[in-house]
Amino acid sequence: MKLCMIGTGYVGLVSGVCFSDLGNDVICVDKDTSKINSLKKGKIPIYEPGLSELVVKNNKNQKLSFSTDLKKSIKDSDIIFICVGTPTKKGSSSADLTQIFSVARDISLSLNKFKIIITKSTVPVTTGDEIEKIISKKNKKNKFSVVSNPEFLREGEAIRDFTYPDRIVIGSNDSKSNRILRNLYAPLISKGAQYIHCSRRAAELIKYASNAFLATKITFINEIANLCEKTGINIEDISIGMGLDKRIGSRFLRAGPAYGGSCFPKDTKAIISTADKFRTNLSVIKSVVKSNKNRSNILLSRVYDILNKKIKNKKITFLGVTFKANTDDMRDSSSLTMIPALSKKGAIIRYFDPTGYKKEFKRNKNVFYENSIKKAIVGADLVIIHTEWNDFKSINFKNLVRKKKFIIFDMRNIYSPNKLNSQGFKYYSIGR
Ligand code: UDX
Repeated sequence: MKLCMIGTGYVGLVSGVCFSDLGNDVICVDKDTSKINSLKKGKIPIYEPGLSELVVKNNKNQKLSFSTDLKKSIKDSDIIFICVGTPTKKGSSSADLTQIFSVARDISLSLNKFKIIITKSTVPVTTGDEIEKIISKKNKKNKFSVVSNPEFLREGEAIRDFTYPDRIVIGSNDSKSNRILRNLYAPLISKGAQYIHCSRRAAELIKYASNAFLATKITFINEIANLCEKTGINIEDISIGMGLDKRIGSRFLRAGPAYGGSCFPKDTKAIISTADKFRTNLSVIKSVVKSNKNRSNILLSRVYDILNKKIKNKKITFLGVTFKANTDDMRDSSSLTMIPALSKKGAIIRYFDPTGYKKEFKRNKNVFYENSIKKAIVGADLVIIHTEWNDFKSINFKNLVRKKKFIIFDMRNIYSPNKLNSQGFKYYSIGR
């Protein structure tokens, strides 16, 4: 089929490339000319393992192309995916739909035959209705169908999550688009993906409810970890003991720093805002947002206790600063709270991250990027493992000690307390 992906961010680029790899003809469109030009040269603007190989392969076999000409790309395609950003509106908690509605207006001017218009971007409930109204102003209702098809891609695992989804959710109010989309996704369904057809609004809500639930699950285990620290219990026993219950499931039960990223913070706020609009109080999700916001302060007070409240001139190393491993994304990373707070208290901070220097810390005093683990650690008073990069999973800390052993605060429970304590390190972690 001929697909047009509007927006070449995580969602549009990954989905477009993967659709082309399934044999579809895909045009990825963006108004950012420089982004499109670098994509044409096989240069990928996002950090996603395995993506550049797929871009080059499908570009070469002419299944994948890039363009800035939105109108022509729409005219040449049968299915239009809206994949533009829906960030949190400044000074509010609701989603900013400016880009969505601007694209909807462009689409309404370019329907030369029946098209399916799909919101793959995460959009609040009823957005599809709004898009339908905009397009109906210029087109007869039988010339198009507006469908919700949310993605469930995790950064760093996006290609795997596209290729082996647990489920494909198609929210549409007509059988024609459902039939066409079941056909589009047939290669994934044949590999075991569940295909769900529901109303458009249901599909829009499934996305938000899923992310809000995952954020709730993580916040739940983080709070249980706080209790474990006070009662000498190992949180990992709790995660295993709970996770074996099939109704709970073992994934997303790893205690750590506050959750971050481009989705959980944005989507939890947006679903609360939607519910408030419909006079419904989502008190559980509200408490999740509050608890996660406070989590960095809880971990910071643990750092102050570990250093006996003496922070000034202390040399603190952060191993990893991105919001999770296998991404260069810093959005809502807990390091963005912790590092400035420690810098303000006079600490001297060095950090290493496999994805390199971060401009986000440019304005913070005494915060320095080091380009190796060794350079970041040597001479430290405290080493904080913030992100669970594989690079940090087999460090021989003993070889990196100079005069005095540094303290280790492992915020991702990568190491065994017994092993590091037996090597003479003061070792702290989460919920253990
Ligand atoms: C998330 C959803 O998982 C994905 O389905 C959706 O499409 C986009 O948002 P992403 O934000 O890329 O994906 O990352 P994810 O792997 O979900 O992690 C989100 C945050 O939760 C990270 O800060 C991560 O460190 C944290 N996390 C995750 C935990 O603290 N513990 C866990 O067990 C899992």
